[in-house]
Amino acid sequence: MPDRQNTDQKAPNGAERDPQQPWMRIDIISAVPDSIRPVLESSIVGRAGRGGIVEMEVHNLRDYGLKKYRQIDDTPFGGGAGMILRCEPVFACVEALQAERSYDDIIFMTPDGELLDQPLCNTLSMRRNLIILAGHYKGIDQRIRDILVTREISIGNYVLTGGELPALVLADAIVRLLPGALGDAESALTDSFQSDLLDCPHYTKPAEFRGHHVPDVLQSGDHAAIERWRDQQALRKTRERRPELLSDDHLNAGKVQ
Ligand code: ADE
Repeated sequence: MPDRQNTDQKAPNGAERDPQQPWMRIDIISAVPDSIRPVLESSIVGRAGRGGIVEMEVHNLRDYGLKKYRQIDDTPFGGGAGMILRCEPVFACVEALQAERSYDDIIFMTPDGELLDQPLCNTLSMRRNLIILAGHYKGIDQRIRDILVTREISIGNYVLTGGELPALVLADAIVRLLPGALGDAESALTDSFQSDLLDCPHYTKPAEFRGHHVPDVLQSGDHAAIERWRDQQALRKTRERRPELLSDDHLNAGKVQ
């Protein structure tokens, strides 16, 4: 599993990052860009953008719309309810971007895509340039998917009103893996799913809250014992909640009864 998280400015292949260049560029194409921009500008993703770790641009599909009304959708051939995103605006927007740089993947967010998981986020965090297309209509013309799109991703087995939230979920999950995006790079390495196990419980002060106590071992200062406790707790939680995540290695290690 490729791992991009580290504390320094080196890529996994040892390459140094040019401080003038971001690790990655992500272009998001949407018909409702205003719903995306504020999220990208806030929190850890926003800080990574301002820190030059990632370059993110949101493009308004309507800027590439047809004629006076900047039309981007139309009625479906064969009839039926709902509007379908037309080819021309999407191709015009993607081709304008491709004139500037080449892209590793053009991703379409759709509930019938490949299910997003941590290994897929890790893989995508190794890319240089990504386009994420957020559909906001009943559907998009199949020719966009056949000709342009290189990857189709779903964030879960449920249907949202558009691809904007899924695009943000994907961007967040990727950006946090880029070197330097998280203040404490440890936390990306140890969080749930990065080790195929769920995360262990965490506590902070006070040591007692409304009769509930922090486990003694965490206050013992015995780092080896703390590590062992955390491993055991991660295994216990995984066995209880997501037993299908446990591999033969976990079971053979004799840590799971
Ligand atoms: N668009 C609507 N629902 C979606 C989902 N679950 N995943 C990705 N894109 C979507």
